[in-house]
Amino acid sequence: MKVAFFDTKSYDRTVFDPKFKASKIKVKYYDSRLDEDDAVLAKGCDAVCVFVNDTVNAKVIDKLAEFGVKVIALRCAGFNNVDIPYANSKGITVVRVPAYSPYAVAEHAMALLLTINRKIHRAYIRTRDFNFSLAGLEGFDLHGKTVGVIGTGKIGRVFIDICKGFGMKVIAYDKFPDRRSKIDYRTLDEVYAEADILSFHCPLTEDTLHMFNLGSINKVKPGVTIINTSRGALIDANALLKGIKQHKIRAAALDVYEEEGDYFYQDLSGNIIDDDTLSMLISMPNVIVTSHQAFLTSEALENIATTTVSNIKEVVGGEKCANEIRI
Ligand code: NAI
Repeated sequence: MKVAFFDTKSYDRTVFDPKFKASKIKVKYYDSRLDEDDAVLAKGCDAVCVFVNDTVNAKVIDKLAEFGVKVIALRCAGFNNVDIPYANSKGITVVRVPAYSPYAVAEHAMALLLTINRKIHRAYIRTRDFNFSLAGLEGFDLHGKTVGVIGTGKIGRVFIDICKGFGMKVIAYDKFPDRRSKIDYRTLDEVYAEADILSFHCPLTEDTLHMFNLGSINKVKPGVTIINTSRGALIDANALLKGIKQHKIRAAALDVYEEEGDYFYQDLSGNIIDDDTLSMLISMPNVIVTSHQAFLTSEALENIATTTVSNIKEVVGGEKCANEIRI
């Protein structure tokens, strides 16, 4: 069995390598992302292992099918970057890691909220320069505030529990609400109108693309704080920027960005960034951007590697795989 592993980072190799070796799976690690040009690297492999910013569209899938690839193994939960029906039509099975640590992502969402609210990012820079002034660092108590959670699946629920621990009131929107739960569901407009903090935890689909847009700016409570650890394209970043400039949005903390594929996971510190929206957002004192790192805990990496290797073994070995995605 042979696997082409795209968009490899050092931490991937550290956790994956022993597991591939133990399973006697040969693996070729590539730093580059899977796209039309680099699909050729999968020639002779049974599986490709990809992450959130690899491109797995019809053209790439055509090439993978031609090279004899049988499995596209996503080492993540979201699968918006893979044309699954097309892959299936070409006889390729797509598998993912549906849950590896909802805690990792939910805790990062809370870390972002605490940081942006209490301005830890600015305080850290100041005290390193022996500037001990507090001017401009005022936050607000989370206790008693209303958080609107959009998407109440595995991660959204852990985030709800964390928020409850802070004494926050939780309201939520989900297209498929769990009526057996005690979650206080509202319509999306109600959540937008009532929440002091909005946190996004639903997948990117045709329905959710730009679900936060220019129209939403007029619906939200003035002074709302926005947290997104889900997928960048849930939020129209230009609309977000406008809301921030109009002082309608108090602050935003983003682990994901619609056009992140061109930038995230790379050291571009010496480069000119072409994306004016991203540059403007990063330049704002009330915005934090992290580079799609919410998943990055040792527990999550370990679970991702274990499940991905077992997914590949099952499918290539002709077994039924519980983590196959069908839509
Ligand atoms: P999940 O599948 O357990 O929950 C998703 C929830 O969203 C479900 O309750 C579903 O009913 C709801 N939903 C579906 N369509 C919706 C719509 N149109 N409007 C509102 N809600 C809708 O997924 P999980 O594990 O909680 O992950 C959520 C998302 O977090 C993933 O789709 C992924 O995009 C993102 N994620 C981000 C990571 C990061 O490192 N930043 C890591 C892992 C996941």
